[in-house]
Amino acid sequence: MVQTHEKTATSPVNIAVIKYWGKRDTELILPSNSSISITFSKEHLQSKTTIRASPLFEKTRLWLNGIEEINVINNKRLQNCFRETKLLRKEYEDKLSKEIGIDNVIPLSTYHLHICSVNNFPTAAGLASSASGFACLVYTLSQLYELPVSATELSKIARQGSGSACRSLFGGFVSWQMGSKQDGSDSQALQIASSDHWPELEVLICIISDAKKGTSSTEGMQSTVKTSTLLQHRINNVVPERMKLMTNSILRKDFNKFAELTMKDSNQFHACCLDTFPPIFYLNDTSRAIISVITEYNDKSGEYKAAYTFDAGPNAVIYALKRNIPEIINLISKYFPPNQDNQTFFSDPSKLFSDKKKLG
Ligand code: DP6
Repeated sequence: MVQTHEKTATSPVNIAVIKYWGKRDTELILPSNSSISITFSKEHLQSKTTIRASPLFEKTRLWLNGIEEINVINNKRLQNCFRETKLLRKEYEDKLSKEIGIDNVIPLSTYHLHICSVNNFPTAAGLASSASGFACLVYTLSQLYELPVSATELSKIARQGSGSACRSLFGGFVSWQMGSKQDGSDSQALQIASSDHWPELEVLICIISDAKKGTSSTEGMQSTVKTSTLLQHRINNVVPERMKLMTNSILRKDFNKFAELTMKDSNQFHACCLDTFPPIFYLNDTSRAIISVITEYNDKSGEYKAAYTFDAGPNAVIYALKRNIPEIINLISKYFPPNQDNQTFFSDPSKLFSDKKKLG
């Protein structure tokens, strides 16, 4: 009887507080700047992937949210992840059979795969679905292949699927060190602090639109690299210092500094998008209104009590200390009541939630 090998795993989303925007190498997915993110708990935003390997499969197939991806063979990013994990599996098989002398090692590295991946949140709406998706693919493959490698090693492979995916291999507070080597061997994710480091910190996600975004992150950042002078200033003069300050604010649990840096970095990322020619607009009127409401709330409080950040889409991610979350939910619900004509909706409790930032 032919045995089928199967593994299932889940990976959470991460949302950056120091944004990655721009690649110095598009093939290897090497970033122009380092970045920092927080990995969420798996409960609300996660990818779940099941992978089967069998000698009976005639080709590798992938289903994303139930729809088959027809161009797996030409999808470079998927192929990068398959190639790198299969290479490690092959090395492992050789090691087992030659060095340790185990016979009949299952040649999983030669089998085609059937992959089924689902997200429990809108895909490609600026909620980091590629991050959790590729992290999950690489992690599930590593489990299937029983790879004896660290999360940092896996992060270098996930990075070649989607840059931000490398950070989802860790829970808690994570940095992606851009590295300096041409082959990308030092461009990897590292954990700054674990998920239980700052239990008072929570995140609120406001789904403004679950429509697929107009300009993908990949296209958008290349266009910014080509045309924005502001991006060059950001890469050379702003991010290196911010990486240090943000790391310190996290380690010291200094919410005031953390909030200031988070909002400034989101603003500068979107300013770079506006400085791209032709410009890219990810924020919409509701996103900008949320920025105003949070700014006014912080001004009135005399300290930063909430920090907004936006990725490549209009949805707001708000970091705040647990004790302030009810007040912030009230505030947002007051200004943006359910069922407004402008499609903004906060009525569904599952779409407005407070979530601890842990890997789970
Ligand atoms: C705005 O990781 O999606 O979310 O590497 O081309 O797949 P590719 O891009 P991607 O870009 C994420 C950009 C961002 C900021 C961030 O997550 O740091």
